[in-house]
Amino acid sequence: MQFKSFNTAAFLRDHWQKRPLLIRNPWQWWHNPLSPDELAGLACEDHVESRLITQSSDDWNAEHGPLPQTRFGELGKSPWTLLVQAVDHHVPDVAALIEPFRFIPNWRIDDVMVSYASDGGGVGPHFDHYDVFLIQGLGQRRWQIGEMCDDQTALRSHEDLLLLANFDAADEWILDPGDMLYIPPGFAHNGIAVGEDCMTYSIGFRSPSRKELIGNWCDDLLPEMTDDDRYRDPDLSIQQNPGEISASAINRLHAMLMEQLTDQQAFAQWFGEYSSRPRYPETDWRPQEPIEAEPLRELLAAGHPLLRNPASRFSFIREEQNKLLLFVDGESFVCQNAVIVLAEKLCANDSLIVESEWLKSDDIVALLAEFYNRGSVAFDWS
Ligand code: SIN
Ligand code: CO
Repeated sequence: MQFKSFNTAAFLRDHWQKRPLLIRNPWQWWHNPLSPDELAGLACEDHVESRLITQSSDDWNAEHGPLPQTRFGELGKSPWTLLVQAVDHHVPDVAALIEPFRFIPNWRIDDVMVSYASDGGGVGPHFDHYDVFLIQGLGQRRWQIGEMCDDQTALRSHEDLLLLANFDAADEWILDPGDMLYIPPGFAHNGIAVGEDCMTYSIGFRSPSRKELIGNWCDDLLPEMTDDDRYRDPDLSIQQNPGEISASAINRLHAMLMEQLTDQQAFAQWFGEYSSRPRYPETDWRPQEPIEAEPLRELLAAGHPLLRNPASRFSFIREEQNKLLLFVDGESFVCQNAVIVLAEKLCANDSLIVESEWLKSDDIVALLAEFYNRGSVAFDWS
């Protein structure tokens, strides 16, 4: 899937993280990559995250998957929506939808959520903390956009859904197959299916909160820290009031924190590993048969393209001129010399034909064998 008419540079300049944008069918050729039945099938699988939202008068009810197959037959006339998360991990044609959005860095991209709604169905007016491209796959949906929200915005009391207490549409459009709506974080929105068989593909992004960064970094630092690295005051002098925590003590305590927190190199490596962690770590993508370096070299020499696992996250940080840290599925790999070019290509392409020149490098073949055996790359994911 490729764009025919979408100026990505102008989009980043004028809209990304700033204001919504409706883009009427920007594709070379739009085709809906998944059928409603296939989506329903995924919602019944137990390693797939899904929700079924049913509406009654003005209220919404959420059920979490996996759903029993019989559930769909029981749905009545009132509008309903099925939402399936990370469909790109399971359906290569849906994963292919992300490729045109690679003008945004890999680490910012989350997943493709796919929804199916019956006539009038929707998840209710809400806002999200992340950017999203809503692509109309099949049928029609009316999208309404409201104002910017934040943590102070009044919500309806609901266990599972963050629904807005008040919603006024400032703009609205009907989207046809192939049309796309970009919504920045915080903008209120409401999508209502117009007619049956309404499918929407949400390309979702990630942006860590400060709370998440500090919490997770500290959690990961703590096991490496020792109990003997402590506050010391061999220069302690008599103070007027024993109750005072002196400025010099606070300075020294604060420095103990800051020395750790300002280590940018350690943070960079941690963030690369953290942000490339699999979303569903319990899913085992390893091949049934591990491969050794030599058979892998032969397969690659025969020109078989290696495909990145759509569920794996690949990114890198350049450390020095001849050193790069490659992050794959939560781990970091130091790359030097010839391996640098391979790492860069792997991060930039979802499928890769390994050049014969590279196969002369044992380091390259060993690294690829490691990724293959971890389930981060394969010859076929379908
Ligand atoms: C939907 O696809 O129905 C909901 C997507 C969203 O509002 O984020
Ligand atoms: Co939303």
